[in-house]
Amino acid sequence: MTDCSINGIEACVFDAYGTLFDVHSAVGSLSDLVGPRHAELSILWRTKQLEYTWLRSLMRAHCDFWQVTSDALQYAMDATQIRDTALHEKLMQAYLKLDAFPEVHGVLSLLRKSGIPTAILTNGSPMMIEAAVNSAGLNKLVTHQLSVESVGIFKPDPRVYQLASDTLGVKPENISFQSSNAWDAAGAAHFGFQVAWVNRYSQPVERLPGTPGAVLSDLDGLPGVIGVC
Ligand code: LAC
Repeated sequence: MTDCSINGIEACVFDAYGTLFDVHSAVGSLSDLVGPRHAELSILWRTKQLEYTWLRSLMRAHCDFWQVTSDALQYAMDATQIRDTALHEKLMQAYLKLDAFPEVHGVLSLLRKSGIPTAILTNGSPMMIEAAVNSAGLNKLVTHQLSVESVGIFKPDPRVYQLASDTLGVKPENISFQSSNAWDAAGAAHFGFQVAWVNRYSQPVERLPGTPGAVLSDLDGLPGVIGVC
């Protein structure tokens, strides 16, 4: 019998940005145009994008993730004194064609062969996630693409995680949820999913409710921890 830290799994649900897709590949693909402050811009863009989701949820002022992503980019460009409307548009378009992390295709293929349903559960709008999935060639490997737009609030609101359980028809405790975003991993574990935190950047543990059942450095370790080999 395989010794698994996550047991009884009937479906795998994945966060998108940062987990399947490298958010820094958008600026990375245009770094020559962005100039010497490209790394700073990319980090600030992502930081503000997430902050705006949390703040808008608290303010009950939801708008979709495309708008949030555009607003966050504008803030980051202002802060780094990059004033270029055409570049803003190019970076937004690049966000629709993010690189998937190298192991993603192989792991999703293995899960598909094993017959486990897979879903993406993301803050991203349906348009954004469809574009990213198609661009990375993952469309045949994921059973469901679920966007928070169906519930009108961002993660980590429990209604978002409930959406995955309801759509898949699988109880939370029988779902393995994967996220590289430690706050999302905490939110999902607090909700009741079994969670694999994909700690890609060796970050410290968040001091939040909700404890992951497994911590991985990338998704390659997932089949082992859920007992699919
Ligand atoms: C997502 C964000 C959290 O894909 O990265 O939902």
